[in-house]
Amino acid sequence: PIQPVILSGGSGTRLWPLSREAYPKQFLPLTSQHTMLQETVSRLDGLTAEHPRQAIVVRDPLVVCNDAHRFLVAEQLRLIGRQAAAIVLEPKGRNTAPALTLAALVAQQTGDDPVLLVMPADHVIRDEVAFRAAVADAHALARAGAVVTFGIVPSAPETGYGYIRQGAALDATGLNGVAAVLDGFVEKPDAATAQGYLASGDYLWNSGLFVLRASVWLALIARFRPEIAECVQQTIATAAPDGEFLRLDAELFAACPSDSIDYAVMEPLSLAARTEAGTALPRALVIPLNVGWSDVGAWSALWAVREQDSSGNVLDGDAFVHHAHDNLLIAQHRMLAAIGVDNLIVVETPDAVLVATKDAAQDVKAVTQFLQRQQ
Ligand code: GDD
Ligand code: MG
Repeated sequence: PIQPVILSGGSGTRLWPLSREAYPKQFLPLTSQHTMLQETVSRLDGLTAEHPRQAIVVRDPLVVCNDAHRFLVAEQLRLIGRQAAAIVLEPKGRNTAPALTLAALVAQQTGDDPVLLVMPADHVIRDEVAFRAAVADAHALARAGAVVTFGIVPSAPETGYGYIRQGAALDATGLNGVAAVLDGFVEKPDAATAQGYLASGDYLWNSGLFVLRASVWLALIARFRPEIAECVQQTIATAAPDGEFLRLDAELFAACPSDSIDYAVMEPLSLAARTEAGTALPRALVIPLNVGWSDVGAWSALWAVREQDSSGNVLDGDAFVHHAHDNLLIAQHRMLAAIGVDNLIVVETPDAVLVATKDAAQDVKAVTQFLQRQQ
């Protein structure tokens, strides 16, 4: 079976003022009528029917989120007629490596060793059919013990992504697409390194989606970050189910080191694979994805994935433009008019208004940092 694991603990600070600490971006309907969490949950619908020969059972998702968002998660799933296998509540986020370790231990409580499909709750994927075909391939490879990543053809030397070096193509009978050996993983390189990777043509961006068996993840985290494995085991041992929620002891979980899947496991795994060929290490693979992926990290990215009018404007709400191009205008409760301006982001909400150039979209986090200092 496939056990979807939805990581929903991020705070989306670059999408202020729509994304707030109490209401981060995964809970907003940014790219469709549905919220990004709802889109993530529905994205696998049809997988079993589309790939009948592989006979894949897709379980209800395991959601890992902050305790403060438990009702948002439960309610948003309910509204689309879905439920979670469990909603694991982190008292305080410790980044994605502990979150996935929690999910892997909960997944094993079913008595088997499912293939985990790890999905960030806040990404856009336009071509869902192609995505599900890639997931079916990843499932076949992960069932045999591999760690499967999905790579995106890079379009800029972004420093906020992981970079995967694509190795030899896999002899892939029975797969829908092509997979390759993962020949290196570098998380968030500096600008010069990213520039070199882009120029080489050998690298893909890490999409942040991972497919691997629960036992494979648990062995990897125990090997590369035993402190995380131990803390999370202790936390799960005392966790208290409360309906669909799973509550964690705040002190035990706070003792867990904070680290991401990418730094804690993917980088060391790719390094160890070089020096320990032929050992018991799982094989790391990459499936290139061409599915209209975006992590909607900033307002400029949202502008790029949304439908634009003939002047390149994205208008949401009561917005009017005249002699204006390539703007993103969101009006939540007043009319917004933009005249003679290009490449602007304007986001109007009842208690805050953002005005920024698209080029400065990454700097929006300065506002949330300022607000936090004021608290
Ligand atoms: N439950 C939980 N707890 N979820 C978390 C936590 C946490 O403490 N921290 C982050 N998440 C969720 C976020 O909501 C997001 O969906 C996902 O995990 C990834 O976290 P980010 O913080 O957005 O990671 P990133 O963008 O810096 O980097 C990752 O994604 C990139 C692609 O978007 C890495 O995997 C990169 O290698 C990758 O390129
Ligand atoms: Mg991200």
